[in-house]
Amino acid sequence: MVSGTQPEIVDRLKLARTPTPIITLEGFPHPARIHIKRDDLTGLLTTGNKIRKLSYLLSEAKELKAEVVITCGGIQSNHARATAIACRRIGLQPLLVLRGEPPDFLDGNYLIDNLTGSDLRFITRKDYEEVDRIMAEIKEDLDAMGKPAYVIPEGGSNEVGALGYRDCFFEIEGYLKEHKIGRVYIPVGSGGTYAGMLIGKKLRKSDVHLIGVIVCDTIEFFKEKIGEIVNRASERFGYQFKVTDADIELVDYQGKGYGIPYTEEIDLIKQLAQFGIFLEPVYTGKTFYGMLQEEKEGDLLFLHTGGLFALFSYREEFLKR
Ligand SMILES: Cc1ncc(COP(=O)(O)O)c(C=O)c1O
Repeated sequence: MVSGTQPEIVDRLKLARTPTPIITLEGFPHPARIHIKRDDLTGLLTTGNKIRKLSYLLSEAKELKAEVVITCGGIQSNHARATAIACRRIGLQPLLVLRGEPPDFLDGNYLIDNLTGSDLRFITRKDYEEVDRIMAEIKEDLDAMGKPAYVIPEGGSNEVGALGYRDCFFEIEGYLKEHKIGRVYIPVGSGGTYAGMLIGKKLRKSDVHLIGVIVCDTIEFFKEKIGEIVNRASERFGYQFKVTDADIELVDYQGKGYGIPYTEEIDLIKQLAQFGIFLEPVYTGKTFYGMLQEEKEGDLLFLHTGGLFALFSYREEFLKR
């Protein structure tokens, strides 16, 4: 180990059901051949990408003897829901800082947050800009009350959470070679999934293209954020690489904005349901839509990051079509 580095966090909890399968989308009308890494199958209630990250993060929380886990997100946050469930399974108390007003209607992820009996704190959109500080203050208060707390940043996206997606890259690398797949599409919302995949790619010295589809903020913002997560992991765990902007390939398919679906995307979600694949409008729908626009041939892999429960809160979009 290079001096100053720390041992990697070990995923002792093994909360994600992995390895997840990879399927080929037979008969889908598009000139490219589409393979899907089914990370929507990482767990029933903990479906999606977040549980891979949480397995590492909560392993660290346990190691640090935390009793409360604080995290944040939107009302329909997949990450907040997965955190609430995972915490309850391992005897930790979830505290969720949610952006916006408490809704009148229990729906999708928010319904599940409620059922877990998580401590829910609502803050305004404006205050949410300072959510890291707010979570740090809550932690300080809890620590002072003798309830040690562990803070997970938005989306579980830091150098510890990213290790979950380093593992995912290791899972797919053999398949990519076997099927001569040169391009992998990844949804980007807080950057940790992409960062983890890039760590895996760098560690394996792979030349596959990882294409991140951003659904909020800007390409510049995510290049910086992803670069920071990867380089922090490299420094902390003693990997021998550093990434630059050129290593991070991103395209922007946020359309009219975060959480606002493309009309064609709603049709695409309905079309994919005919193949038994369920996407949602915020992350996976936009990423799949973007991939179809970008690519016209060859073999591609789409990383299906789950998010099923958020689909229910979009029922009206489907009624309209
Ligand atoms: C279903 C789903 N897919 C993809 C993402 C994006 O992953 P990341 O936040 O690691 O960029 C998120 C969360 O942001 C998500 O909830």
